[in-house]
Amino acid sequence: MNRFIFFWILILLLMVNPVNAQVESDSEDVLIVYLSRTGNTEAVAEIIRDEVGGDMVELELETPYPEDYDAIVAQVARENETGYLPPLKTKIENIGNYNTVFVGFPTWGMRLPPPMKSFLHEYDLSGKTVIPFNTNGGYGLGSSIRQIEELCPDSNILESFSVSGGLERDGIYLDIKGARREEVRAEAVEWLENIQMQ
Ligand SMILES: Cc1cc2nc3c(=O)[nH]c(=O)nc-3n(C[C@H](O)[C@H](O)[C@H](O)COP(=O)(O)O)c2cc1C
Repeated sequence: MNRFIFFWILILLLMVNPVNAQVESDSEDVLIVYLSRTGNTEAVAEIIRDEVGGDMVELELETPYPEDYDAIVAQVARENETGYLPPLKTKIENIGNYNTVFVGFPTWGMRLPPPMKSFLHEYDLSGKTVIPFNTNGGYGLGSSIRQIEELCPDSNILESFSVSGGLERDGIYLDIKGARREEVRAEAVEWLENIQMQ
């Protein structure tokens, strides 16, 4: 009799959305780290969090970049030239708890933005799965994936996701909103399925 009741309780539990239960248990070890100035990369980070689960952390600098577009472009070019790694205000105490780390960034000067270099330099992602995602002004990823590969030599780097976002140079700030956000969500879901994160 007891076995019979146990069997039916088990069947009932499996009927209560087994897919969600799966995502919850999987997502505990998922971290979504991102850099975003005008919100496009953050929108993609939110889509990933909605679809996969996990913890979201935004990278912030001890000394923020200037608001002015030309000033930030010049500063980033200088930092890239000298290899300067801007110190992060963001601290992640429990990075060891995560096995999968999504790293999201805009393309800056056709490269990986210096704050993301700071993050990958400061935190050891050896043995972890690293999944890059990106937004850009229409010129693509540039050399950013190669830079990630160099900074994470012992990580399992999966296929990246890249979409066009804003183009601050031309006064286009947050573009991944409304209908465009749903379009990006559909593309992201396809990518997540391909890399078996969904
Ligand atoms: C300093 C700086 C440099 C940029 N360089 C590029 C670039 O080289 N290629 C490109 O396609 N877009 C470039 N962009 C545009 C951003 O990649 C694009 O607007 C992105 O969607 C911004 O993401 P965010 O809203 O998350 O900050 C640059 C933007 C900034 C602020």
